[in-house]
Amino acid sequence: MSEHTDPVSHALVEYIGAHAPAEGAFLAELRAAAHAAGLPQISIAAEQAQFMRILLQLHGARQVLEVGTLGGYSAIAMARGLPADGKLITVEVEPAHAEFAKTWIARSDVADRIEVRTGRGIDVLPTLPDASADAAFLDADKVSYAAYLPHCLRIVRSGGVILVDNAFAFGHLLDPKNQEPSVSAIRAFNETVARHPELDGVLVPLGDGLWVARRK
Ligand SMILES: C[S@@+](CC[C@H](N)C(=O)[O-])C[C@H]1O[C@@H](n2cnc3c(N)ncnc32)[C@H](O)[C@@H]1O
Repeated sequence: MSEHTDPVSHALVEYIGAHAPAEGAFLAELRAAAHAAGLPQISIAAEQAQFMRILLQLHGARQVLEVGTLGGYSAIAMARGLPADGKLITVEVEPAHAEFAKTWIARSDVADRIEVRTGRGIDVLPTLPDASADAAFLDADKVSYAAYLPHCLRIVRSGGVILVDNAFAFGHLLDPKNQEPSVSAIRAFNETVARHPELDGVLVPLGDGLWVARRK
């Protein structure tokens, strides 16, 4: 670690956001509508969405898997990084979230690139073929991340990218007093990713911490 590394302060986060590509009217409207509809306000940050879109574009990704759709914010942002014939499958367990997402995805400019599958990640992932995705993004129930990882390693092709959100455990990662199941699960998951022989990853301090890992 560099001895000159500064902590990522709130001011720097604001600065990063102010210097990222604009979220755009449609995604801003989606965010507001999701709030008004009573969906939890836990979509990824706008700058994280832009980072992921650019990463997928640089990677030349065509097929992407997401677990955790919520209102479709991250799915739409990522799908915008795919070519016109690209495809993003997003998995959501809550029917109300899936229905909201389907409505907004249908209105979006990438409607034909996104398919919402309603169900538990752990039930849907086994139905997806080997090496069928160039990238995956995990952003659902944190206690299941460890169970999702072997599926992602099977579904994402060699050389593909695995992104995982909330590596900072909602800000509680380094608080040893916090032993909530989701926080403990994330701590264990981070150790797994950092040492995994099939992964080459770095934790990026965007949003609540984003794993960016290449599947070897
Ligand atoms: C943090 S939100 C996803 C946010 C979304 N990726 C975004 O940035 O716009 C997590 C979502 O995962 C869903 N979820 C929770 N457990 C799940 C499971 N077992 N399988 C699939 N989805 C699940 C929740 O209902 C919620 O909508």
